[in-house]
Amino acid sequence: MAHYADVLEALHARPRRWLVTGAAGFIGSNLIEALLGLGQHVVGLDNFSAGRRQNLAQARAAVGERWTAFRLIEGDVRSLDTCRQACRSVEIVLHHAALAGVPQSIADPIAAGESNVTGFLNMLVAAHAAGVSRFVYASSSAVYGDRAGRLKSESATGRPLSPYAVTKVVNELYAQNFARCYGFGSIGLRYFNVFGPRQDPEGAYAAVIPRWISEMTRGEPVYINGDGETTRDFCYVDDAVQANLLAATVADASAVNQVYNVGCNAATSLNELFETIRALLEPRVPRLRGLRPVYHEFREGDVRFSQADISKAERLLGYRPAWRIRDGLARTIELCFGQLASPRPRNGGRRRSPLSVA
Ligand SMILES: NC(=O)c1ccc[n+]([C@@H]2O[C@H](COP(=O)([O-])OP(=O)(O)OC[C@H]3O[C@@H](n4cnc5c(N)ncnc54)[C@H](O)[C@@H]3O)[C@@H](O)[C@H]2O)c1
Repeated sequence: MAHYADVLEALHARPRRWLVTGAAGFIGSNLIEALLGLGQHVVGLDNFSAGRRQNLAQARAAVGERWTAFRLIEGDVRSLDTCRQACRSVEIVLHHAALAGVPQSIADPIAAGESNVTGFLNMLVAAHAAGVSRFVYASSSAVYGDRAGRLKSESATGRPLSPYAVTKVVNELYAQNFARCYGFGSIGLRYFNVFGPRQDPEGAYAAVIPRWISEMTRGEPVYINGDGETTRDFCYVDDAVQANLLAATVADASAVNQVYNVGCNAATSLNELFETIRALLEPRVPRLRGLRPVYHEFREGDVRFSQADISKAERLLGYRPAWRIRDGLARTIELCFGQLASPRPRNGGRRRSPLSVA
């Protein structure tokens, strides 16, 4: 188990060749920015179904000249040929391409299955055939489904509550099976609620944090499903990046072919989240003083409490989340305030803030 600082230094000293799928998305574009900042060579793959060109433009602006070490393939993981092309000459794959919306998967389970299951299998086959040394993939806390209890540990999952959750369970099964049948090493990261710059505030399935920042800034009502005491483990995106780099480089064989929770081991209620965002925005938007949320009925299928037991990632990967939620929110607001305050497009989607365990 290495310290993160040592991993960063080692990558600096010996750059690797990486493939990031879902490169134009929220987590993917943050991964690209971090990797290029470390002097790595990166191929990005995205079909721009949810990803945005401006995410790549922002990553480019952040890394300056190092952008020359990036190559984009505009393509689809549902195509095995595209996956094979993307994996060519790559040492490490960080597979993040997926349809990430829970309600979206309920509305269109076929589309979710095609991108998240067929696309995943294509990536496994292509990465194995190309001889990549490590395959890290985005799983989800959604695999805990209806598992009772607040604290979620890797060994005890529940029944999936959405087609999206099923796709992530199937990903983990395929990854395990490729280890057994082909000796192909992978690591799955069960993200809890990741947030930070470049998370999409628009559209029907936007995550709760960018949506609330955007709504408060624009003077729109903020809705909470239920009584606001529902909790989530919110994880700043830099900590998700940390988990990826540790998983990509861990040398200990017992740490490979595993899944890990990626969160902060902290439960934050929606009421606390609302108040923290409101208070952080108030100096910029004084009319937010005293703002209250609008409460709606509970949304069917929403998990009530979710908190990550991160002891396995701490023990086997050396994962140490560095961001408390308040600091991550402050940073997100600092970096994205202007962007989140701009006018909402007319087709900006539903107004109620969904709180998915995506
Ligand atoms: N953000 C979270 O809190 C969270 C939580 C749990 C799991 N995850 C998982 O992490 C990964 C990244 O999530 P995100 O929040 O960055 O989502 P995102 O929607 O911002 O990024 C996903 C990217 O994948 C791309 N994509 C989708 N289908 C594709 C296809 N068929 N071919 C090529 N590209 C395709 C999209 O265009 C998008 O850029 C996803 O696998 C998601 O399920 C995210």
